[in-house]
Amino acid sequence: MYILGIWDGHDAGAAIVEGNKIIAAVNEERLTKKKLDVGFPKNSIKSCLEIAGLKASDIEHVAVTTTEFTKTLERMFPKLRENYYYFRRRKMLKPRFEAFRHYLKYILTLVGPLPFCKEINEAILRKQLKTLGFENFKIHFVEHHLAHAADAAFASPFNKALVITVDGLGDGVSATVNVLENGELERIETTPAFDSIGIFFEQVTNIVGMRELEDEGKVMSMADYSYPFNFEENKLKDFFKVEGLRIKAKYSPIKQYDLLSRIAWSMPREQFAYMAQQLLEYILVNLFKNAIEETGIEDVAWSGGVASNIKANMKIRHLDKLKRWFVFPHMGDGGLALGAAFYVNYKLNGVSKYTFEDVYFGPKFSEEEIEKTLKENKDKIEYEEVEQPAKYAAELLQKTYVFWFRGRMEYGPRALGNRSILAPAGDENIKNDLNLKVKKREWFQPFAPSLLKEDARKIIEDIKNKYDVDKFMTMGYLAKKEVASKIKAVVHVDNSLRPQMVGNENKAYKELLKEVKKESGLGIILNTSFNIHGMPIVCTPSDALDTMLKTKTKYMIMENFVIELK
Ligand SMILES: [Fe+2]
Repeated sequence: MYILGIWDGHDAGAAIVEGNKIIAAVNEERLTKKKLDVGFPKNSIKSCLEIAGLKASDIEHVAVTTTEFTKTLERMFPKLRENYYYFRRRKMLKPRFEAFRHYLKYILTLVGPLPFCKEINEAILRKQLKTLGFENFKIHFVEHHLAHAADAAFASPFNKALVITVDGLGDGVSATVNVLENGELERIETTPAFDSIGIFFEQVTNIVGMRELEDEGKVMSMADYSYPFNFEENKLKDFFKVEGLRIKAKYSPIKQYDLLSRIAWSMPREQFAYMAQQLLEYILVNLFKNAIEETGIEDVAWSGGVASNIKANMKIRHLDKLKRWFVFPHMGDGGLALGAAFYVNYKLNGVSKYTFEDVYFGPKFSEEEIEKTLKENKDKIEYEEVEQPAKYAAELLQKTYVFWFRGRMEYGPRALGNRSILAPAGDENIKNDLNLKVKKREWFQPFAPSLLKEDARKIIEDIKNKYDVDKFMTMGYLAKKEVASKIKAVVHVDNSLRPQMVGNENKAYKELLKEVKKESGLGIILNTSFNIHGMPIVCTPSDALDTMLKTKTKYMIMENFVIELK
């Protein structure tokens, strides 16, 4: 039985599962080229159907998440939704009454699902699905945090685990603690939207002049440029506390926004970012610690937008009592389509375990399709097919950066060696070039490495045990001091890094790292997503070629083709 999951909010997308297999999962932004695109994901649905080799009429079960009041309004008035997200992500000119709009948002989003919401949502979605050719199907609604929890629980390798979700909010909830045992997922505590630590971090992001729902990671990186404070000196320390398995806010989101704005006024923004990050870490570490102590379960899986904070994740990982951990790689709302499909598959068919070795769930392009694109551009590029693209790339990576495009597109925010820009890990000049000329990112944003899993202990200091590895770039680690100076381009100012530890899940990429190791002694390279900053990661060969031409990048490896700019 095929189940289609869809998510039509921030970072919309679709996914298809069957049995214990993820057949396809794609986000709308990759297809429309609008970063974190919102709205009904018609392109993602079509793409998933194409990958699965199905027609819309073959699908009998559609899983959808979130029926809160504001989501219902957004579905009823799609233009309103678009404007609202553009406003929050500062993609429009600063509107008059900006503060009022924020107040309105906080008031409205605190309202969870109302009795009539489900019927309205079902009618709208049914109509939209029918326009795509869906005929006889049942719509199943999955609560927002259940979808996040299903992602973390069912993709994790655990039979018994704590499952924790933390985000801004969804369906009136901002955090949950759940227990997974023998395939059953049970929620044991809920933190309402009013007490949202995720909204707190969104507000901080907004106040330091960045984009909510997009730049929270920049706030985290900027925090490392502040001089450190004791928690006692932190002016935000009383804003939140943890009581048992629940987070408690001192102020309403509206009062909190006012107070934060006033505090931020009096200090440099990196100091303010530091205080916010420190508080977030303190709250999450205590929540996880309490949950482990109370349940006696030492394996933990987590998801939700806040799980993208790799520094907080690192502090959680360092907890003595935590044994094994799993962060769902598409932790934000972009992963909800898959989570909704997971949950419905669990309810209908009892499936609660998936083969989750990698996240290459997107489209793939044949050699013929690629060559067609290359031929169309032969006045601008030269290309040849080579037998050992990894060897070729490794040689280039001694002196420059390279675009690397292979296989199925990644699901989630990280490029994991199929749509990646690669560079030498030790060359800061190439890194700066990449930052300023190609990626156009802020100077304080670090780059992350991909490294051979077998070399991880040579490079990283704080690997606790054999489970403590990450192939999805969801976790912060600390570099060994003696190695950090050799891999400066991929280590942050505090010696931390966010590695992808590559094993057999991506053989072509592993091959490349082995070739790099032959050349430089260490199997590690800089890996950043294949896009210009502010744009989604490339999907098709022609997206990749466009980016190459726009950035005047000299070399690209696409499957077995080596492409050089004329
Ligand atoms: Fe969420």
